[in-house]
Amino acid sequence: MVRVAVIGSCSVDLVVEAERRPQAGETLFGTRFFTTCGGKGANQAVAAARLGATVYMVGAVGTDWYGKTVLDNLRAEGVDTTYVARRDEVATGTAHITLAEGDNSILVVPGANFSVTPVDIDAAWEMLREADVVLLQHEIPPETVRYAVLRLAAAGIDVVLNPAPAADIAPEVQQACRYITPNEHEMQLLFADGDIPPRMRDKLVITRGSAGVDYDVDGTWVRVPAFSVTAVDTTGAGDTFCSAFAVAIAEGEPPAQAIRFGNAAAALAVTGFGAQGAMPRRSAVEALVCNE
Ligand code: RIB
Repeated sequence: MVRVAVIGSCSVDLVVEAERRPQAGETLFGTRFFTTCGGKGANQAVAAARLGATVYMVGAVGTDWYGKTVLDNLRAEGVDTTYVARRDEVATGTAHITLAEGDNSILVVPGANFSVTPVDIDAAWEMLREADVVLLQHEIPPETVRYAVLRLAAAGIDVVLNPAPAADIAPEVQQACRYITPNEHEMQLLFADGDIPPRMRDKLVITRGSAGVDYDVDGTWVRVPAFSVTAVDTTGAGDTFCSAFAVAIAEGEPPAQAIRFGNAAAALAVTGFGAQGAMPRRSAVEALVCNE
């Protein structure tokens, strides 16, 4: 069983489904509302736990009711929450999600997620240094991401950075990651002129939604196609992909197989509502990988 640590956000998702998004100044009726656990970090932790990894979460929530909900959920999923701080002075992070016209749009209120600092990384260091792979995203402060990536890389630990939401990554941080998993939009921000330094190519695993995932093989971009499914909610698909990819890499799979495993997990994740709602267990992922 591989040991996965996730450093990142733990939030509650407030989700509205509607025929279309309201325009500025317009009021519309939604068709459905639900509250569920999310946050890119917690989603990745839950995805890895469902795939059979031993998972540790590093992050922060408030002492409010949402904070308890998030912690209860992580524990119920088998994620170790020793390093998820409860902070009095801030509210638990929330994401305000609209599902409309076949896609989601998300406004994140970071709350306690922005209270995660290098001190939290140091506090979790004895655990982190034993991890087979560490996953990070961009929903905690950039200086914390930077500190964690550089310290982990210096200790020889593989880091998979999911640069979502889109934000610049300093060259030395890019260099310290084992893999970076941008989507097409995040790629634009990272390499606006389309000029990807050769040293970066074998770190990039570029997710392209239902088209699949691109990675570099000896200087050529190779596409691993997505699995064909009927999507009902794409929220959390990227998180599921990153987590499953990282688990497979930590298990020693080569990139092509790890991407296929990630694609299968992500495909299954979009067949149900909520970021974590349809995240699959390993048996379902393996069945899809073998049967196509
Ligand atoms: O990646 C999906 C996640 O992004 C949601 O669960 C929401 O919390 C937002 O942060």
